[in-house]
Amino acid sequence: MKLATVILAVLSAALSPKQANAQFPTRLGGVNTAGYDFSVDTSGDYSGTPSTPPATQYTHFSGEGANLYRIPFAWQLMTPTLGGTISSSFFEEYDTTVQAALSSSSSAYVIVDLHNYARWNGDIIGQGGPTNAEFASIWTQLAQEYGSNDRIIFGIMNEPHDLDVEEWVESVQYVVNAVREAGATNYLLLPGSSYSSAQTFPTEAGPYLVNVTDPLGGTSKLLFDVHKYLDSDNSGTHATCVTNNVDVLETLVSFLQENGNRQAILSETGGGETTSCYTDLGQELAYVQSAYPTLVGFSVWAAGAFDTTYVLTVTPYSNGTDQTLWTEAVLPYLP
Ligand SMILES: *[C@@H]1O[C@H](CO)[C@@H](O)[C@H](O)[C@H]1NC(C)=O
Ligand SMILES: *[C@@H]1O[C@H](CO)[C@@H](O)[C@H](O)[C@H]1NC(C)=O
Repeated sequence: MKLATVILAVLSAALSPKQANAQFPTRLGGVNTAGYDFSVDTSGDYSGTPSTPPATQYTHFSGEGANLYRIPFAWQLMTPTLGGTISSSFFEEYDTTVQAALSSSSSAYVIVDLHNYARWNGDIIGQGGPTNAEFASIWTQLAQEYGSNDRIIFGIMNEPHDLDVEEWVESVQYVVNAVREAGATNYLLLPGSSYSSAQTFPTEAGPYLVNVTDPLGGTSKLLFDVHKYLDSDNSGTHATCVTNNVDVLETLVSFLQENGNRQAILSETGGGETTSCYTDLGQELAYVQSAYPTLVGFSVWAAGAFDTTYVLTVTPYSNGTDQTLWTEAVLPYLP
């Protein structure tokens, strides 16, 4: 190498966005604790009643090594009026659950998950429905509540689908800017399209989402949110698994590494109490573990207020025994 080249190399190493490529500090593994999202429709309609995830589950799972809890909620519960102020009574209830999860282990992280499919009562955010400002309003308020806790990750939106991807990513950028303007430095989980599909991420939303910028500088605090199920139609509604998804996740990992060495979390995946799922989910989560830090980790769908008969349940039995799926396919791959 010529001296000038060496100097350039040293300089660029010093100035290169090393911080931008800083990694999430730890590998994550855990579970979705559903209930406050019962039953948001994929149209963003909501007419349910909230069920509180049992707080005892957090100590149960943390005792086994889990360190990630995704806690979904209906937008309409948090702000009963679109663009309005947070309901203090609902926030108090939600926050009690968040704090139970956080206090179950000093290394526990929580994903605050706005579970509305990029919609409010049938209409798409920024595309005829809620304005970007109305969307940002709930996050500005949550940023004021949770902006000082770096163990709280903001899941900007659950499973956007059937929308204009380029416009959707503009809505995502709008929220990122609003959260930072509110002074919050939390990790943000950016969702793509096709129900946050891990499979379509590299070809649909990924090429746009990698260009979202963070007013904090760099991109290390912008993680991508991906989902993938293992049943015949990737819907997460069947007890039987037909794939371990390793090929899909390998393609995703290559895309992330080639586009700035970015990171993603598999925040929904799961299967039924069947031998096919014990095998396939186990192989999938083994791959996720091996792909750290590109894949930061996973949260399985679902425990919380689901009872032990729900098709994808990982809710422990009342005697404290885990589902076999959990023991066979999840427990070995917790951090
Ligand atoms: C993302 O940004 C890069 C660099 O500015 C640009 O070349 C590319 O076209 C952008 N991608 C999309 C999908 O707009
Ligand atoms: C706990 O309950 C489940 C479901 O009824 C049962 O299969 C399991 O054997 C029980 N475990 C113990 C240790 O009693």
